[in-house]
Formats: sequence, structure tokens, C-alpha cells
Amino acid sequence: MKSLLCKEFGTPDKLVLEDIAPPTIEAGKVIISVQACSANFPDTLIIQNLYQFKPPLPFAAGGEVAGVVKEVGEGVKHFKVGDRVIALCGWGGFAEEVMVDARKCAPMHPKMDFPVGASLLYNYGTSYHALKDRASLKAGETLLVLGAAGGVGLAAVELGKLMGATVIAAASADDKLTVCKEKGADFLLNYSKEDLKDKIKEITGGKGVDVVYDPIGDKYAEPALRSMAWNGRYLVVGFAAGEIPKIPLNLALLKGCSIVGVFWGSFTEREAQKSIQNLSDLANFYLEGKIKPHIYKTYSLSEAPQALFDLMNRKVIGKAVVVMDKVSEIPQKTVLVPKQEEKQEIGFTQTEKGVVFKNIEAVKTFKGKTLGVSDWQVVTQEMINDFAKATLDFQWIHLDEERAKKESPFGQTIAHGFLTLSLTPQFMYKMMGIESVKMSVNYGSNKVRFISPVRSGSRIRMKAMIKEVEDIAGGIKIFTEATIELEGSDKPACVAELISVAYQ
Ligand SMILES: NC(=O)c1ccc[n+]([C@@H]2O[C@H](COP(=O)([O-])OP(=O)(O)OC[C@H]3O[C@@H](n4cnc5c(N)ncnc54)[C@H](OP(=O)(O)O)[C@@H]3O)[C@@H](O)[C@H]2O)c1
Repeated sequence: MKSLLCKEFGTPDKLVLEDIAPPTIEAGKVIISVQACSANFPDTLIIQNLYQFKPPLPFAAGGEVAGVVKEVGEGVKHFKVGDRVIALCGWGGFAEEVMVDARKCAPMHPKMDFPVGASLLYNYGTSYHALKDRASLKAGETLLVLGAAGGVGLAAVELGKLMGATVIAAASADDKLTVCKEKGADFLLNYSKEDLKDKIKEITGGKGVDVVYDPIGDKYAEPALRSMAWNGRYLVVGFAAGEIPKIPLNLALLKGCSIVGVFWGSFTEREAQKSIQNLSDLANFYLEGKIKPHIYKTYSLSEAPQALFDLMNRKVIGKAVVVMDKVSEIPQKTVLVPKQEEKQEIGFTQTEKGVVFKNIEAVKTFKGKTLGVSDWQVVTQEMINDFAKATLDFQWIHLDEERAKKESPFGQTIAHGFLTLSLTPQFMYKMMGIESVKMSVNYGSNKVRFISPVRSGSRIRMKAMIKEVEDIAGGIKIFTEATIELEGSDKPACVAELISVAYQ
């Protein structure tokens, strides 16, 4: 069967479409012949090893599927071969077949098509639980949805209207807001052009909003919290923009409001009966025509990396869905770089060459966001020898392979700690670029901690997050939080705060 495999962690361009052996049935499980698999935000993280679940390599991403039961494992009573099902499989869905725990599957209504089936559970399940169980949203209340055109956001707009709320949809682009309007939003707010707090004050006549639905975090969280009405509920849903905001707690006191966490996955397990009732409500809403997933675009399996890039580049409105009846050839050539005009609008693109910023202003908007993970780099004995010559540090533990085998606690030579650190600028060059600058230099570090020794021949790579961007004369200074990971080790080789400058 064809499977889009993550064989090494990285951006979506690293995924490879291969023919592999299909799964073999196990007790309590079903094998689904996948017809559609939607792309969700966690898929973009799991392939970069940045998600809470870490499946062993190689694996296929894709956590939400619709398809037909092909085989049933021992002990499974409520499904048979040929049943149409929807399932939350965690990963494995970007493939022609996936094996799923039968308890994570639900029957798919005959009136539903596969792309819709693969677009219901995650977005609507999350938003319904958030608005109903966590916020107790009531008819007549005002609901502000941030990231309103994203997957969970658009579902929150639709469900908020259905529950009788006045909905303010907030997003970064007018075309996104047009879709929110079609889904029933009463007021539209473009936070890339308008001041969030001022606009909410204007819309609500100074009263504020009763419920905030926040799946993005970052810089809009605090102004949204400051715009809440008395007895308001602020729903913490996710951090799509990267940064987990640090909120002054006195705001909750002053506003007399609650900050409420939403963890739908955990809810489905801890409160299974309630969750089943919610899913049944949602199926009825769909069948009664009260909710309808907005499918932005369908992709073939070989185009799935583009679907993930589109999510990462904030292009997707509603859902991006991979459908198996679109032909996928092996080997395939997929064009992954977003179009120029979109790049202009967003200010950066995630490409196979890392994050490419349009200018230094765009770098400033990336504060708190991850640049991802670099490729692996082998630290050879030759590099260690050259480093010793350059630094005049000829200690035997680095250079004398025979003696190190016998006497070193590490059983072989190790690289100088500063050699590992000295590799960070070249990782940075490969992980980010700025298009319109005269000069940029990755030149130093503020703080470093050397944690695990790097034996000669080991592979290391860098995970990086832009922590702070400061204005300096003629340009910017960038502070990056870097973790140098060591293959096969839980502990990193070192962590450092790196400093770069860019001049316009
Ligand atoms: N707590 C839970 O149980 C739960 C369940 C499901 C999902 N989530 C979380 O909710 C978040 C949203 O998920 P989703 O599936 O709706 O994602 P999505 O479809 O990609 O939507 C996210 C929205 O966030 C906005 N955004 C702002 N900065 C962004 C950035 N740097 N990268 C990407 N998007 C950015 C975008 O809207 P604009 O361009 O308009 O700003 C985008 O439409 C994720 O963090 C996900 O993990 C949580």
C-alpha cells in the first residue's frame, strides 16, 4: 500500500511516498481502507517531533480519517467488513490503509461523504466541548472567536451561532472573514489591520465579550482578556501562533472572569459518555443541515505535504483534506513553495530551505515561534582534529583515539564542547533566511549549557525558536533559543541562546 512516511523529523518536504506492507490485523482493532484523511494542526508538529505524541520512525502522519472497514480483529463486535467509518487514529492516516483501535471509530452516516466524514470529529468535537461544557455558552451572550477561519475556529463560529450567541469572528485576512460571515458571524474583525481591544469595545458598546475562544495564543491573548465582560469565560484552546502567552493574573481578578482550559482529547477519555452524547448531537446537527465543514481544498496523497505547508502558512480556511481517489504516483514531484502573493501577505514562508522571511519586519512578527529542526550533522574525528588545531586545545580526550578507548569514561574520543557550539551558525543559515537584507551574521551566544558529551561519529541537529527580536541601529538583533539534540540521547548536547544580527 502507498504510505506518506515520515522517516526523519522535519518540515513536510521531508515526507516520502513509498509502497510498504499493509498492516496485519490485531485483536480489538480494525483495518480501515482510507478514503479521506484531513490535515490537522498536530500533523504539522508530529512530523517535526514537536508534539506530545512521538510515534517511532518511520510513521505516516494523519490523525483523522474516513473510510471503509477492510478487516476486523478478534473481539470487535460493533463493526464488520464493508462498514463506512470515521476515526481518530492519532497518526497513520496519510496512507491507503490504517489500523485503528475499534473504540476510536464511529459509524459514518450513509448521507455523509468521505471528505466531510474526515472533517467533523476533531474541529466540531473540540469546539462543541469548549463552548458547551467549558464555557456554558448561553443564547444572547457574545462570543469572540480568534483564528476564526482556522479548523477549530470556524467550527466555533458555526456552533456559537447555533447556540444563539452573537459571534465576533477575528482573523488575519478579509477573504478568511468572508467565509466566517457565510458561516453566520455577526461581526468581523481583521486583527492584522484593526486594534482588537478598540474594535471589541466599539462592537459591544464598552460591555466586553462574555466568552473568548482562543486557539492561537500569542499577542492577541492579553488584549482579548482585557476585552472581557464581567463573569466572562476565556477558553484556552491552543497556541497555533507558537507562543504560550504569559498573562498577568490580576486581569482575571479585575474582570471577575474565568480562564478555562480546554483539552478535548482528554475529555473524550475521562468523560466518555458525555463525549459520545456530544458526537451524537453533532451528527444530528450535520444531518439537519445546521453545521457543514468548510473544505478549503482536497489534495492527493502525494500532495499531502503541500496541505501541511498550507496549514503552516495560514492559507487554509476550514479544512484541508487528502483524498485517496486522487491519483498519487511514486516517485512524485510536489511543488511545495507557496505562491508569491501569499508570501507577501504573510511575510514568511516555510520552505525546504527553512523559514524564509520577506524582510526584518517579518522576523519581528515571528517572536516566540519555532524555526523547526535542522538536518542531522555528523561530528567526525577529522572535524575534532581540525578544531584542536584552530583552538590549540590538544587534550587527549578529544584526539587520542587509542587512549580514549581505554581510559575515557565515554569509551572513545569526544568533541570539544565549543566545537558543538561552533556548528550553530551554519545550522541557523540553513534554518532561516531573510530576503531583503544587506547583511546578516550569526555571531555569538548569550548563555550556553553543555549537557551531554558528543562522541566522535555522533549525529547532532538543532531545534530553534526565535525568542526575542530587538531593534538596533540599521537593523535587528535576533535572540534564538537553540537546543542541540544528540541522536539516541534523551538529553541534548547543549542548549544556548544564540545571537544574530541583520542589517537592512
Ligand atoms: N485544546 C484542544 O483540545 C484542541 C483541540 C484541537 C485543536 N487544538 C489546537 O488549536 C489550534 C488550532 O488548530 P486548528 O486545527 O484550528 O489549526 P488551523 O486550522 O491551522 O488554524 C489555526 C489558525 O491560527 C491562526 N494563526 C495565527 N498564527 C499562526 C501561525 N503562526 N501558524 C498557524 N496558524 C496561525 C491562523 O488564523 P489567522 O491567519 O486568521 O490568524 C489559523 O487559521 C492548534 O494549536 C491546535 O493544536 C486544541
